[in-house]
Amino acid sequence: MELGSSWSVFLLLLLASVCHCSIEFNYSTQSKSKEEENEGLCAILIRPLGYSCSEHTVETRDGYLLGVQRISHGTGGLRAIPGPPVFLQHGLFQGGDAWFANSKEESLGFILADYGFDVWVGNVRGTHWSYGHKSLSEKQKAFWDWSWQELAQYDLTDMITYVYSLTNSKVFLVGHSQGTIMALAALTQPITVDMVEAAALLCPISYLGHISSQLVLRAVSMHLDQMLLAMGLHQLNFRSDIGVHILDSLCDGHMDCGSLLSAITGKNCCFNDSRVEFYLQYEPHPSSTKNMNHLFQMIRKGDFAMYDYGLLGNLKRYGHLHPPSFDLAKIPKSLPLWMAYGGQDALADVTDVEHTIKELQAKPELLYLESYGHIDFILSVYAKNDVYDKLMEFFNSQRRSSSY
Ligand SMILES: *[C@@H]1O[C@H](CO)[C@@H](O)[C@H](O)[C@H]1NC(C)=O
Ligand SMILES: *[C@@H]1O[C@H](CO)[C@@H](O)[C@H](O)[C@H]1NC(C)=O
Repeated sequence: MELGSSWSVFLLLLLASVCHCSIEFNYSTQSKSKEEENEGLCAILIRPLGYSCSEHTVETRDGYLLGVQRISHGTGGLRAIPGPPVFLQHGLFQGGDAWFANSKEESLGFILADYGFDVWVGNVRGTHWSYGHKSLSEKQKAFWDWSWQELAQYDLTDMITYVYSLTNSKVFLVGHSQGTIMALAALTQPITVDMVEAAALLCPISYLGHISSQLVLRAVSMHLDQMLLAMGLHQLNFRSDIGVHILDSLCDGHMDCGSLLSAITGKNCCFNDSRVEFYLQYEPHPSSTKNMNHLFQMIRKGDFAMYDYGLLGNLKRYGHLHPPSFDLAKIPKSLPLWMAYGGQDALADVTDVEHTIKELQAKPELLYLESYGHIDFILSVYAKNDVYDKLMEFFNSQRRSSSY
């Protein structure tokens, strides 16, 4: 069987299902009142494991209502002085649950809380744990009119501002994948840098010109992004009844989930196949087609720039024919950076990661894991030993050298 073509068929089926589900299926994302404490991420995934957790809502400057959770360890009794805040920013098609998807001993969110950090969890617009918009409905095109550029400029910056002002303390930042694009773009702005103590980036992405994911490259060459936009499909939601059903049957019959995931993310060494059903209860989360379009633009052009509206659109919006680039050299040398990347990662390719590092003024501390793929950095059953212990060592060295 020619795998390349079966994957593109799979993707098309999945996308076709997205088109139908909003009409034919009773799949409600927005009508759920997640504001009710008993339906939030805290109640579903975190409190049941014995942690104290509170739900917060952050309104972005452009009106989106984002769910943010704060976790501290519940079983150790009262902490006299809360540890420094650390903010976790998930990746594309993921939500804050990604940091808690494995066991207490394996998941970064729980590990940081156990270690005494004041853990804050971000959820971007459109995800299951965010609460919509103060005036727009998720059914409206305008609700989905954004890409990672707005996620950096509004969502990340506004969530960090919230944590910074509530805790009265600079924030340690952790991002994975799209969370690192957001972080790198936001950190070129002094307003964000001033609130960040140090940043740890898992699978750092700014350039995407060397992406090697077969499935993604095929979608790029098919111009799937432009096709979907032309079809008027502005929300990308793989999590429909029928989408999950197709995924299930594909996993049962034709290929295992590990290899499907590999086709998208690169081969993951330490993915727990028996946990797929659990992951699928929460992932994937919706995103916007415009976001995929922006990412595909980066793949086609090999740049790290704002959304390309076409020559005239750019002129109107940016005052230039081409969209302005994000200048990584604007991230100050004084900001401590740590990056972890993998030899099998088909999305954050080593060549692109090296390109990112070259453009930075600061010399980030690096952790390279030859056997790791894109998802391993968040779901590997060995991630604590391989990645998180080192990440915390880095944060602790920054704590010692600052005021803590
Ligand atoms: C639609 O979903 C809601 C909420 O899950 C449920 O209460 C309702 O019975 C469903 N309606 C149909 C027609 O399935
Ligand atoms: C893999 O997932 C299964 C099902 O959730 C779980 O029982 C098992 O402990 C997991 N293995 C590891 C090494 O975490």
